[in-house]
Amino acid sequence: MVKEYKLYIDGKWINSESGETFPSINPANPKQVLGKFQKGNEEDVNKAVEAAEKAFKKWSEVPAPKRGLILLKVAQLLKQNKKKLARELTMEMGKVIEEARGDVQEAIDMAEYMAGEGRRLFGYTTPSELRNKFCMTIRTPVGICGLITPWNFPFAIPAWKIMPALICGNSIIFKPSSDTPLCATRLVEILEKAGVPKGVVNLVTGPGGSVGMSIVKHEKVRCISFTGHRDTGEMILKEAGLKKVGLELGGKNGIIVMDDADLNLALDGVIWGGYGTTGQRCTATSRVIVHEKIRKKFERMLVNRIKKLKLGNGLNPKTDVGPLINKRAQEKSVKYTEMGLNEGANLLIGGKIPKMKGFFFKPTLFTDCSIDMGICQEEIFGPIVSLIPVKDFEEAIEAVNSIEYGLSSSIYTNNIRKAFLAIQHIETGLTYVNSSTIGAEVHLPFGGIKHTGIGTREGGIEGIHEFSETKTVYIDYSGKLQKAQINMG
Ligand code: UN1
Repeated sequence: MVKEYKLYIDGKWINSESGETFPSINPANPKQVLGKFQKGNEEDVNKAVEAAEKAFKKWSEVPAPKRGLILLKVAQLLKQNKKKLARELTMEMGKVIEEARGDVQEAIDMAEYMAGEGRRLFGYTTPSELRNKFCMTIRTPVGICGLITPWNFPFAIPAWKIMPALICGNSIIFKPSSDTPLCATRLVEILEKAGVPKGVVNLVTGPGGSVGMSIVKHEKVRCISFTGHRDTGEMILKEAGLKKVGLELGGKNGIIVMDDADLNLALDGVIWGGYGTTGQRCTATSRVIVHEKIRKKFERMLVNRIKKLKLGNGLNPKTDVGPLINKRAQEKSVKYTEMGLNEGANLLIGGKIPKMKGFFFKPTLFTDCSIDMGICQEEIFGPIVSLIPVKDFEEAIEAVNSIEYGLSSSIYTNNIRKAFLAIQHIETGLTYVNSSTIGAEVHLPFGGIKHTGIGTREGGIEGIHEFSETKTVYIDYSGKLQKAQINMG
């Protein structure tokens, strides 16, 4: 019997008003159904907003360090259940077990980090231009936050949003991707067990078109934080009206490999960044900009390593590359392979669906690519990497920047001058030196520029800013009317 899971609204696990459910399946074994989930709708969202509104005042008045204690409890429960959660994550989303543990660990890290923020939530003080007057800023919650999350980091990315939103005193409507509702349900079960009061976190599973859009348009929702596809992000921005909106919309990240680089190190970085999580990270390495002096050698090294990558079920510890999330993703990888071939790129290895039962795709490498090809411009979200040969450093910088996205980037070089020049001239929100394009840590800001977003960042202090407002406070203790700009101190 397949278990049926519920919505979580106002502290109760309940059915959707729609009376309908949808399945979540294992992408390594599509016949395995992991559970049935509620197909939420607008009525469910309205109920969730009502509950969040009722809960908000009391929750926002709990001292932030006390809210932090609940987050510490969340971290502890995640730790206790890490093994089981990572296994379920691999079954629902396909990533290899080691990376699944990393995903859960990132949620633990964020809960611990944000728990500590409960004792900071810093504002600042600054002198007034007038005598006997005190000026400061304090942080206040935004209100009801709508958190819409993707499937590729089913614990980490919801935690990036839920933990800072909670520590700042907000209440939440959480709408996870319909590819990973089980992980989302497990996270909410843990939040409930840790003692988050009823109505503070509400889970509404279901389609983006109805559930997501009802949250985005709801006039009582004050803040939307979304990670996902660029087209959806653009639509959200149009529909949200006057709300705080945070967007993280993907990338087309490039690694530059200079002729002086440690090639073995660069090889590890490209393999990890390009084929880890089957290329399904916003920060995945999808372009390698390689100096022509070393490109033949580097191509050989890459092909030899790619040949050894073992595809399979992520639960097998010997597996290097798991399946793609669903059939559509598999078809997308086929489409981009065809596009690369039509555009005249040179396919060195891969490019095929292997004879396996899940949604697998062979790790694929193109070379002789040019910056304007579709495979070098569009986000593929699959195990496809394109090599772009360049003749010098300047051309490399131009190539890495020649895209609409601006999330992550990297340069492999032992030349310190080139490393600093790259840091200065590369147009991305994150940049790495002698390390892959992936591997962000929770206490630093994460996000991008250009079409990756609208300048908002998650994690670090910036993550607190996303989910709080700044209130400016003036206290005049002079006992008389002092006029700023008119009385001169
Ligand atoms: C994403 O790429 O979708 O930096 C998120 C990383 C992870 C998070 C990535 N910590 O690769």
